[in-house]
Amino acid sequence: MANKNLSNAKNAKNDEFYTQLNDIQAEVNAYIDYDPDVFRGKTVLLPCDDPEWSNFTRFFAQNFERFGLKKLISTSYAAASKNISATKDIKSRKGKKDVSWYQPTLFEKESPQYDEEKTAVRGKIFVLDHDTNKNGKIDFKDLEWEYLEGDGDFRSEEVCKLRDEADMIVTNPPFSLFREFLAWIVGDDGKDVLTQRRRGAESVKGGLATSAVAKAFAFTKATADESADKKSTKKFLIIGNQNAITYKEVFPLIKANKMWLGKGFKGGAAHFISKYTDYATAGDHRAGMIRVSGVVWFTNLEHGRRHQPLRLMTIADNIKFSKHKEVRGKGYQKYDNYDAIEVPFTDAIPGDYDGVMGVPVSFLDKYCPEQFEIVGSEKQNEGIRTKIYPEQIQVEASGKRSRVTKLNDGAAILLPEAPSGVTYYQIDDAAYAQVYKRIFIRARRPK
Ligand SMILES: C[S@@+](CC[C@H](N)C(=O)[O-])C[C@H]1O[C@@H](n2cnc3c(N)ncnc32)[C@H](O)[C@@H]1O
Repeated sequence: MANKNLSNAKNAKNDEFYTQLNDIQAEVNAYIDYDPDVFRGKTVLLPCDDPEWSNFTRFFAQNFERFGLKKLISTSYAAASKNISATKDIKSRKGKKDVSWYQPTLFEKESPQYDEEKTAVRGKIFVLDHDTNKNGKIDFKDLEWEYLEGDGDFRSEEVCKLRDEADMIVTNPPFSLFREFLAWIVGDDGKDVLTQRRRGAESVKGGLATSAVAKAFAFTKATADESADKKSTKKFLIIGNQNAITYKEVFPLIKANKMWLGKGFKGGAAHFISKYTDYATAGDHRAGMIRVSGVVWFTNLEHGRRHQPLRLMTIADNIKFSKHKEVRGKGYQKYDNYDAIEVPFTDAIPGDYDGVMGVPVSFLDKYCPEQFEIVGSEKQNEGIRTKIYPEQIQVEASGKRSRVTKLNDGAAILLPEAPSGVTYYQIDDAAYAQVYKRIFIRARRPK
C-alpha cells in the first residue's frame, strides 16, 4: 500500500509531506563524514521549504556555524498555490481558492512585517547570514524573513535568481514536479518559466517550441549524452522516487557519473510527517506520518559509501553457494534481446564476469564507480540491444491472450517451453519472459 501512497501523492499532486529531522541529519552526516568542509563558505538554498513546517531550515540553521556556512536561504510556497484541493481542504468558491484552512503561525503573526493580505498568497524568504540578535552565535533565532513578490514557485524569476546565487540546493521537492525540478537545478535555461507559462499557457499546450517551458525542457528533450554533458557546477541533495532513476532526464546523469544516490533511507522507505491518512501496514504505521517506499536521495555530493566496492563471489561460487535459488545450481541466463546476462540480485553479481550484466535498479544503492561502469538501461541501450521483436501475443496467467509490442520495453529471456501460471509472450512457437526493470553494468578491471 505504501507505493499506492506514492502514486496518490503524484496523482492527486498531494505533495504536502515533510522530512523528519533525523533523516536529514543522517543523510547530511554522510557528506560531512566524507568531507568536513563540504558546506564551508557555501550559500545553501532550500527551496520548496517552509521553516515553520519543515526541518531542512531548522537543521541547517542550527548547524550554521558548525558547517561554516556563508549564507542560508530558504523559500516557502504560498498556501493558496498549494495543489491540495483533492484533500477537500481547499474548495473553489466563485473561482477563488478558500484558504481559510491556512493558519499563519504565531512566529509569523507576531513579526512586524506580518500582513494579513499577503500571508496566504505570497511565498516567503528566510535568510540567515549573521548574528542578528547579537547573542554571540548564529542559529535559527537569527533567521530574517520577508514576503516574496510572488508565491514562491521554484520556477519564478525571483527564486531562479536565488538558485543562481546558491552553491548548493537541498530539499525534498514536490514529487509531482520532480523532472521539472531536476531540470531546474541542472539546466541553465529554465528562467522565468512560470511567468512565461502563465502568459503562454495556451501556446505551450499548442506545442510552441520557442516557449520558455519548451526551453526549460530543452534539457529533457536533448539526447542522452548532450543532457549528461550539460555544464553544471551546482551541488544538490534532493529526495525523490527510486523510479526516477530510469527517467530519460535522470539516467544519463547517473550514467555519466554526474549524479548518484545518497546514503539513503533505511530499507529504502521513509516516514514523512503528514496530516494525511497512512495506509501503511499496521507494523509500519506511525501516527502523523505517511510511509513512502522506494524513496532515495539524489546528489552530486561525494560520500564514502559509494567508494566501498561490493564484496562478490565468483561465478563458480555463486553457482555453488548463492543464497538465491534462481542462481544456485543454475548460473546466469543470457538475455535474448540484449548482449548481457541476467543477474536478478545485487548480491549475486559475479565478481569475475567481464561482459555486460543486467542488474536491478536497486544496485545503484551499492554502486561504486571504481568497481563498475554503468553502460546503459533498457531504454538507453546503444550497443547492448541485439534485436527488436515483431508483435507478440501476451498470454496472461489466466490464459487471456492479447496482441502487444511490450516485450521490446525490457530484457527478455527465451524460455525452454511455455510456462503456466505466469504471464509470458509468444512469437510463433517460442515463449519469452520479460524481466523486471534492469540497468546494465560492466566491471572495471585494472589496466
Ligand atoms: C514533499 S514537500 C517537502 C517540504 C519540505 N521541503 C520538507 O521536506 O519538509 C514539497 C513542498 O513543495 C511545495 N511545492 C509544491 N509545488 C511547488 C512549486 N511549484 N514551487 C515551490 N514549492 C512547491 C509543496 O507545497 C510542499 O510544501
